[in-house]
Amino acid sequence: MHACPTLLLLFLLVLSLLLPSASPMNSAPPLPPPPIFSFGVIADIQYAPVPDGSSFSGVPRYYRSALDSTLSAASSWKSIRPNPLSFAINLGDTIDGLAASPSATQHQPALASLSEVMSALATFPNPTYSVYGNHELYALNRSEIKTHLKIPMQVEADNQMVGYYTIRPALGWKFVFVDTYDECVMGRTGSKLAKAEFLLSSNNPNFDRGDINSPEGLEGTDRRWVAFNGGVGSTQLDWIESELIASRSASERVVMLAHQPFHPDSSNPMCLPHNYEALLNLTDSFSSTVVATFSGHTHSSGYALGSAGVHHVVFDAVLESEPGVDTYSVVRVYDDRMVIEGFGDQRSYELEINSTCRR
Ligand SMILES: *[C@@H]1O[C@H](CO)[C@@H](O)[C@H](O)[C@H]1NC(C)=O
Ligand SMILES: *[C@@H]1O[C@H](CO)[C@@H](O)[C@H](O)[C@H]1NC(C)=O
Ligand SMILES: *[C@@H]1O[C@H](CO)[C@@H](O)[C@H](O)[C@H]1NC(C)=O
Repeated sequence: MHACPTLLLLFLLVLSLLLPSASPMNSAPPLPPPPIFSFGVIADIQYAPVPDGSSFSGVPRYYRSALDSTLSAASSWKSIRPNPLSFAINLGDTIDGLAASPSATQHQPALASLSEVMSALATFPNPTYSVYGNHELYALNRSEIKTHLKIPMQVEADNQMVGYYTIRPALGWKFVFVDTYDECVMGRTGSKLAKAEFLLSSNNPNFDRGDINSPEGLEGTDRRWVAFNGGVGSTQLDWIESELIASRSASERVVMLAHQPFHPDSSNPMCLPHNYEALLNLTDSFSSTVVATFSGHTHSSGYALGSAGVHHVVFDAVLESEPGVDTYSVVRVYDDRMVIEGFGDQRSYELEINSTCRR
């Protein structure tokens, strides 16, 4: 009786040597399934033709080298094979406010700098979709931002332009670009300016003292009440909600993108939009539709998993990477995960897409 299993094994071994194998040893292993789509991401280029400097907290800033890094990013994106990138995302602060400084020699120095960055990005042949940040607003008006960054602008009451729009990168996917400088003190008049001034003045005593960008004396998320941040107005919030309702009905998955981060734990809370709770409310109410949010503004890689399961990713800045270090990302989207491959100072992440968010 005890010999039987041994005989059986021997029989199977001989059989396996005689029969042709189902998967011959000399054929290549099957290729992993390709991504549904892939794209590049870059944030906070902040190019200006001025000498190196440093941030308020002393982090070095390489204003000129940011242009070289942008060119390297575009060239890398262009060469990605076998699954080429179909587009790129620019998360704002494309030029630094210093590009508009009177020491610059050109007639319209900020536009000249922006045009250099856009030309660098355009060496990647597919479209780049942008949001704008506080630094564009230090140097340009929204009509110039619309024309030169190619950001579609909605025209709201009092002729105020607000830059929110969507793209569909693949069947079943929608990207919702959010303008968190809808209500802010840069380049605004009328009710949008009044609202931002009221909020800043009521929440930050430094504002009325003229120190509008100082969070001194404020704690935690209250540090967001500074003038370099902005908020999202009610018309835009209603529009975002209607886009999310439509995507939920169509079983689409959504990525929301803005210059400023959505979640307090994904970044320095000083960088949050004034009414970030309203945005988080939306991502969390639609957590079976919204897979992730992407932002910049903070200048360092950051990540938080929200309580409803939405991934919040903050991308590193080009500006603060040493010359020769090119900071950008390549994102590959699969049915069950989103893989962010970071280059330079950018961290890499693999984000799970749970079945509730799958089609
Ligand atoms: C924006 O700036 C341009 C100059 O580049 C000017 O012609 C235009 O009137 C400005 N637009 C607004 C809305 O202020
Ligand atoms: C969050 O959404 C709920 C339900 O729509 C609403 O009652 C609440 O006011 C919202 N909170 C914020 C901060 O927007
Ligand atoms: C997905 O589901 C797993 C298991 O239920 C859970 O551990 C994980 O946190 C979820 N991820 C997200 C992004 O919701």
